[in-house]
Amino acid sequence: MKKRILITGGAGFIGSHVVRRFVKSYPDYKIVNLDKLTYAGNLLNLVDVEGEDNYEFVKGDIVDADFITELFHVNQFDAVIHLAAESHVDRSIASPMEFVMTNVIGTVNLLNAAKESWKGEYSQKRFYHVSTDEVYGALGEVGMFTEATAYDPHSPYSASKASSDHFVRAYHDTYGLDVVISNCSNNYGSHHFPEKLIPLAINNIKNNKAVPVYGKGENVRDWLWVEDHARAIDVIFHQAKTGETYNIGGHNEWKNIDLIKLLCKIMDNKLGREVGSSEQLITYVTDRAGHDLRYAIDSSKLQEKLGWVPSLRFEEGLEKTVEWYLENEQWLNDVTSSNYQSYYETQYAER
Ligand code: NAD
Ligand code: DAU
Repeated sequence: MKKRILITGGAGFIGSHVVRRFVKSYPDYKIVNLDKLTYAGNLLNLVDVEGEDNYEFVKGDIVDADFITELFHVNQFDAVIHLAAESHVDRSIASPMEFVMTNVIGTVNLLNAAKESWKGEYSQKRFYHVSTDEVYGALGEVGMFTEATAYDPHSPYSASKASSDHFVRAYHDTYGLDVVISNCSNNYGSHHFPEKLIPLAINNIKNNKAVPVYGKGENVRDWLWVEDHARAIDVIFHQAKTGETYNIGGHNEWKNIDLIKLLCKIMDNKLGREVGSSEQLITYVTDRAGHDLRYAIDSSKLQEKLGWVPSLRFEEGLEKTVEWYLENEQWLNDVTSSNYQSYYETQYAER
């Protein structure tokens, strides 16, 4: 094996796409997927790679420092690609401490284990931290986030991710650990947990349930196909210089309400409904507290230095996504069973 890579959070939405890409593209790498299997982690996301010789799954919690130290000791990793996190803004508003524990303490535990286990060979090892554009805060009508934009997080989620980014940079500056960070915009695609806008709306439209749009639906997000994110991570992991940060984004800004209307149209077509009929499900609800108005990523550094560009037009990607959810009804039924129902009722009852 040329490299032993620890991927954390590999049973989640983006992590499962990254694991699949690395297991399939690099047969001479050993990929160890460490995941706690929270509500968001699902081994069904990886059935197509679970039997591969170069893949291993380990269930565990990055908050458990002793366990992480032992895992590094036993496996002698060459690199870490760190995606494990609590990732949903609304949940962070309801329970911020879980975000501090996993996103901040969990990240520092991994950094400590890497720092100790890799002593004397930092230049041959790499710690890749996967982060978000939300650390930059909110934009007005114009402008874009660049790698030089000052951090200004607003939600407990983005504050915890910003904190973890700072720790990763501090371990580079203080101890000389080889780190890279990427900050990506909103992802969409298959295996996305239906607490997030696009899969939640797909599930609700399918079941003729109200589609909750926060506030006036005027918030803007920059959407990227998840497989394009996984490809960007691959490129950055292999080619970025030590200590570098890359922004990743789709140059694809959509107001929430326009996106939902497009989704209704695609769903009506796929479900054989009268086109436009699902728009009746749109229901404006109380806005998210501290709701960031607009995100937009300037990914020109990644495009110019490493030659990465998004591969799919949004309409095409959204259609593929809808098809995946309609073809994978069992997956959707599994993840929307008991716990999801109580989450949904609590989250949306008071809106
Ligand atoms: P997700 O919620 O779908 O998956 C997170 C995974 O981490 C799950 O499998 C979960 O079981 C695991 N996990 C959570 N706590 C853990 C712990 N304490 N120990 C071990 N495993 C744990 O999240 P996602 O949307 O796939 O996001 C992955 C990463 O990418 C996160 O770091 C997130 O901040 C970042 N990110 C996400 C987006 C997006 O649009 N979803 C965009 C930019 C960056
Ligand atoms: O920008 C990157 C971030 O994108 C990631 O770091 C996060 O992990 C990921 O969850 C995502 O955060 P958002 O808060 O932007 O995603 P979410 O799908 O929750 O919401 C997208 C937009 O839709 C946002 O403006 C809030 C709105 N929304 C969301 C939900 C769940 C609604 O209007 N109704 C809803 O029911």
